[in-house]
Amino acid sequence: MEKDVDINKVVRQHLEMEQFFTGFVPKGKTNPPEPQEQDDGAAAAEAQKQLEKINEEVGRCRECGLGSLRTNAVPGEGNPNARIMFVGEGPGADEDAQGRPFVGRAGQLLDKVITAMGLKRNDVFIGNILKCRPPENRDPRADEIISCLPYLQRQIEIINPEIIVALGAHAARTLLNTTKSIGQLRGQFHEYYAGLGRPPIKLMATYHTAYLLRNYSQENRKRVWEDMQKVLTELGLPIPEHGRK
Ligand code: URA
Repeated sequence: MEKDVDINKVVRQHLEMEQFFTGFVPKGKTNPPEPQEQDDGAAAAEAQKQLEKINEEVGRCRECGLGSLRTNAVPGEGNPNARIMFVGEGPGADEDAQGRPFVGRAGQLLDKVITAMGLKRNDVFIGNILKCRPPENRDPRADEIISCLPYLQRQIEIINPEIIVALGAHAARTLLNTTKSIGQLRGQFHEYYAGLGRPPIKLMATYHTAYLLRNYSQENRKRVWEDMQKVLTELGLPIPEHGRK
């Protein structure tokens, strides 16, 4: 999870990240692609209603000890018809303060990744394994994951994305029920099983953007971008060229 870092490093990373994850131009287009096509409007409205019901339940939840420590629960947000669902670990301080996922530094970097993919934040759905912030951003505990996971499972069932992007080891291991490292898991498609009788959903594991900020190298950024290119290719979406401004 995100930790405090020195200001010079933050500024340098910000400038480098600006260069790396912005300035992409979709092939043969001057503008990013239109938002994902809406399915049936009534189905989207129904999905939204069901997601809002989960938000209310999460807002009241006291299943684990984190419920009594939060400022705000962070159930997740985005397009109820999203083709891509990003799943992180759990809220940090900024998310806890605002009740919205990925709004701190790691979130700003995720926004850049989404933009680099030729998409907008409201084209996708962004959620987390945990809906409440663990104290001092410590790793999620097994009992907390067990209590909280049904909310995410229901969100996935309602949204039924074509691809889940698991950000970091905790999300990838939890959703794939494995103890493998993120280094072993990233860069290839896995299958997430949403339930009996439902076809598996493709899952791409990649580095968490907070990890990327802490382990900041051209190589790591390139790996994340390669993973996202695979996601775009799988969805039949154009891969924006890395056209630096
Ligand atoms: N890190 C996460 O895993 N989730 C958030 O919402 C923010 C930071």
